[in-house]
Amino acid sequence: NIPPGPKPLPVVGNFGSLFVPPFILKLFARKAEEYEQKRASPLSPQVGLMELSKVYGNMYSLFVGSQLVVVLNGYELIRDALSNHAEVFSDRPDIPLITILTKRKGIVFAPYGPIWRKQRKFCHMTLRNFGLGKLSLEPCIHEGFAVVKAELLKRNQEAGGQGVDLMPLVSSAVSNVISSISLGQRFHHEDEEFRTQLNLMAHGLEISMNSAAVLINIFPWLYYIPCGVFKQLRRVERDITAFLKKIIARHRATLDPENPRDFIDMYLVEMSTQQKTGGSEEDGFSEDYLFYIIGDLFIAGTDTTTNSILWMVLYMCLHPDVQENVQREIDAVVGRGRLPSLTDKGTLPYTEATIMEVQRMAVVVPLAIPHMTSKTTEFRGYTIPKGTVILPNLWSVHRDPTVWENPDDFNPSRFLDEKGQLLRKEYFIPFGIGRRVCMGEQLAKMELFLMFTSLMQAFTFRLPEGHQPLSMHGRFGLTLAPCRFSVCVTPR
Ligand code: HEM
Repeated sequence: NIPPGPKPLPVVGNFGSLFVPPFILKLFARKAEEYEQKRASPLSPQVGLMELSKVYGNMYSLFVGSQLVVVLNGYELIRDALSNHAEVFSDRPDIPLITILTKRKGIVFAPYGPIWRKQRKFCHMTLRNFGLGKLSLEPCIHEGFAVVKAELLKRNQEAGGQGVDLMPLVSSAVSNVISSISLGQRFHHEDEEFRTQLNLMAHGLEISMNSAAVLINIFPWLYYIPCGVFKQLRRVERDITAFLKKIIARHRATLDPENPRDFIDMYLVEMSTQQKTGGSEEDGFSEDYLFYIIGDLFIAGTDTTTNSILWMVLYMCLHPDVQENVQREIDAVVGRGRLPSLTDKGTLPYTEATIMEVQRMAVVVPLAIPHMTSKTTEFRGYTIPKGTVILPNLWSVHRDPTVWENPDDFNPSRFLDEKGQLLRKEYFIPFGIGRRVCMGEQLAKMELFLMFTSLMQAFTFRLPEGHQPLSMHGRFGLTLAPCRFSVCVTPR
């Protein structure tokens, strides 16, 4: 008695009919633009999965090969599963390629249980504290912004009206935030080592998601093939491992437990406290675990925040009236004489509403991260067997016409009351919900606020003459990125 769903094909199940892996699209696209076009709407899986709910209801079954996948749509159902039945719905599936790369350590793909809980609690608390005190995030973001500003002006002039691709600049500023927090190290955006590591990470993710390496999920032995993308993937893994291990060793050698400099130091201090108080190996506090956690922070914290900022700039280009309102509010509250600060949060309701509205429209992690049931359960009249993959469709929550008026319209005012004060909406959940809710939510909100307000204070953005984005459904990948676009900037 599993939930209903479309009939699966033999062997492949419903796989190809719903989502064509990008590397297959690439094989059949003659030109780069054709590939970009194919990757954009209407092939976006989150849209297709929401459409299916009109036929089968908010909860339905699919098969990827022989693996049962249950898709959850809409806020009530997702909350019921992930919050009210959290003990059953909070595990993560064992995806062969990810298991090879992460050994199921770290946070994101760690199995639900006591080790994950202890590690997450420590990391969550430590990350939250980075907004405050002497390890404050603000100077780090301001410093990064100064680089973006100077570089953007230079590139804008060189482009002569053709527009600048913001992606590399924003991505390096965001990576630098994670890097400062976790490694205690900022890098110049042209620093060779930093660029190499960023490129390696991007390359590794691209291979893992969008190349024939996805076949490792069906035939895990392919990982060991000594040629092609498989060999490239192993080389990327080896180089990133060497880089991180070197940094951890340097921290260990120079650690002053009284003055932790960053996340690595705090973890090393916690490790020794655990050892002194008789904590066992089973608690997971070890340098090996630390290594995978740092990887998680970079992977979970870079693409998500970068793409959110890019979506914000794109929406401002397409809605100049909203951009003007935001700038007017920032001018009135912050002025032009200083950079926006976290203490301004709470006094810029229209700006905050705009950030939330972009997050609602874009949903950069549209299908959350796959969950898995840890035991067989009866849920809403159906049986969900142990080991079922659960896909919470967060996109469907944010485009649900029963809770959002005209959900496809971009309208920041929906987050404001009649007095212009910010409204908190229960069904606004771009960071997920339940025990696996985003661990970096507070950090991400600080980053988005500081970066967006600084950009809006300094520049007015528009698309180059005659340019339009290919699709506003974005490009599906590890996160939902806007289709590539360029911007012209006017300093204010
Ligand atoms: C998980 C969204 C930024 C760390 C998630 C999930 C979502 C999400 C939807 C999955 C929740 C689930 O599985 O049910 C976002 C968005 C971000 C963002 C929209 C930025 C705008 C960050 C940052 C960090 C981070 C900056 C850390 C530096 C994590 C981690 C998890 C996670 C570690 C896994 C949690 C677990 O499995 O227990 N995020 N995230 N995220 N995020 Fe974020």
